[in-house]
Amino acid sequence: MNVYDSGRIAAILESLGHHATPTLKEADIVIFNTCHIREKAAEKVFSDLGRLNLIREERWAEGKDTIIGVCGCVVQAEDEQIWKRAPFVDFATGPLTYHRLPEILEKVRRKKGTFVIDTDFPAEDKFDSLPINHASGGCSFLAIQEGCNNFCTYCVVPYTRGAEYSRPVEAVLEEAKRLVADGSVEINLLGQNVNSYHGEDKNGQERNLAYLIRKLAEIDGLKRIRYTTSYPADMTDDLIACYKDVDKLMPYLHLPIQSGSDKILKAMNRRHTSGDYLRIIDKLKEANPEIGMSSDFIVGFPGESDEDFQATLDVVNKVKYIQAFSFKYSPRPGTPAAIMPNQIPEKIKKERLEILQNLLFDYQTKFNQASIGKIMPVLFEHKGRHAKQLIGRTPYMQNLHAELSSDYLNKIVNIRVTDATTNSLTGRVEGV
Ligand code: 5AD
Ligand code: SF4
Repeated sequence: MNVYDSGRIAAILESLGHHATPTLKEADIVIFNTCHIREKAAEKVFSDLGRLNLIREERWAEGKDTIIGVCGCVVQAEDEQIWKRAPFVDFATGPLTYHRLPEILEKVRRKKGTFVIDTDFPAEDKFDSLPINHASGGCSFLAIQEGCNNFCTYCVVPYTRGAEYSRPVEAVLEEAKRLVADGSVEINLLGQNVNSYHGEDKNGQERNLAYLIRKLAEIDGLKRIRYTTSYPADMTDDLIACYKDVDKLMPYLHLPIQSGSDKILKAMNRRHTSGDYLRIIDKLKEANPEIGMSSDFIVGFPGESDEDFQATLDVVNKVKYIQAFSFKYSPRPGTPAAIMPNQIPEKIKKERLEILQNLLFDYQTKFNQASIGKIMPVLFEHKGRHAKQLIGRTPYMQNLHAELSSDYLNKIVNIRVTDATTNSLTGRVEGV
């Protein structure tokens, strides 16, 4: 979501006549888009700002002014603290107010030396006020939903991104058509809780994600649809059926379980048990036996015993994830879990994370190795480090490197996989 937001922020600046510079030192305006999900991400902002201040001072000595701004969830959470900790920052704006950047920058210019901050939860639709989302390649992000009402006890998102909001169906379809007209062949629908989507259609009727996916699949030229991130309790049967009926929907699903222990899931305020989750996966496999699963995991949530942790490993052994993201529990100020008793010592969190990651890496490596010899359609998105090398993604989100001319950039090409590691595949065009 932050990559998407950063792209939109860049588009606003471009609409004001600015352009990206190759180095920080050449920039008249620098904006940090920030994440507050774990402590490490949030603290990084302040060390990065400190480094930027040195550049600002160098530029000042050369007679050049620099405007420094901070956007995103850290602003929503820290508010005025941003300025107290980094008094050289000119402005700060939350994730729901960055569409007001033109006014904010105007204020900064008028009142240089003061701190301009906007952390509203605005009534107007941010998406309506943003410049058109142009595709920058074959694969585009499209935000369809924002915010979250789930209030998992460890998570800051409901506080920083606010209540759930779904964009209207027509606005999403229009944006998708434009992205495809610009050359995108893949669209990744985004939302903190994307499968709770309930946007209105032009008749005022609420429509769900399954409906939206089927509508998007009708767009000529659009070849791949993905969505992220999903909440297990919102995996409806009609959404699961899309994996059987909609060829354009990629056979890969990121569906976070967080923990395999029902006791911990309850303490996390998740509205599912590990049994519910595994039953959803059975249904998904029935709809499409080729589906590959991914998840997020948190280890060391308050009160997590060895048995609870073992239950997480058991789920991994059952599902055999093809990819996953795993984190040590990070207490976030203002969330209920931060003040729960039985916080787990750092050393145990570290040990558990290592055990979990080794197991996850094993399954990921096995899946990648099983791809060797197969022919896969790969969407090439970037140039590689070597000349004539391109990097793309398979339907399962695996990174694949191939020796290929840049004519194939942003195109889907059939590739025979020749080699595999934990993190990437190598392949060659069939017959070349
Ligand atoms: N500590 C550790 N991980 C967290 N996540 C969210 N909040 C926390 C936290 N306080 C993880 C969850 C979520 C992912 C985006 O980040 O696994 O799915
Ligand atoms: Fe955070 Fe996701 Fe839970 Fe919402 S569903 S509170 S975004 S972890």
